[in-house]
Amino acid sequence: MCEMPSDADIDRLFRAAKAARSMAYAPYSGFQVGAAVLSEDGSVFAGCNVENAAYPQGLCAEAGAVSAMILSGRRRIRAALVLGEGEALTTPCGGCRQKLREFAAPDAAILAAGPQGLRARFTLEELLPSSFGPDNLAPRGGR
Ligand code: THU
Repeated sequence: MCEMPSDADIDRLFRAAKAARSMAYAPYSGFQVGAAVLSEDGSVFAGCNVENAAYPQGLCAEAGAVSAMILSGRRRIRAALVLGEGEALTTPCGGCRQKLREFAAPDAAILAAGPQGLRARFTLEELLPSSFGPDNLAPRGGR
């Protein structure tokens, strides 16, 4: 079971994602996103979206946060927070749900926030039910 993030951890995730969002490079969509992940040991890693003139080459904020965590040597995500603005909730896109799933348990908290604060909380399983993951490849030598 995955330990729920404390209010203090959620606050750290929110601040990191908000700061990251302010650095987003989103000249094409104009939609800036910040994301932060909480690793097993309580460290927080953030990322922002990075768009590209060749549109499909753009990167989501979650990809940057996951990359920063992996670069640090951590491998488990306890919680993630995504921050965007607008009336509709900014939840991780489908591809990012899968990226998070690689390193997170089904009951990991996935939090959706706006610039003013937390708006909704989900588990990864709620956002990506019956998912495909590393266990599927275990019989072939994956982990
Ligand atoms: N975006 C993210 O960074 N994360 C998501 O989960 C949803 C979408 C970015 C991609 C693109 O730069 C912009 O938001 C508009 O889709």
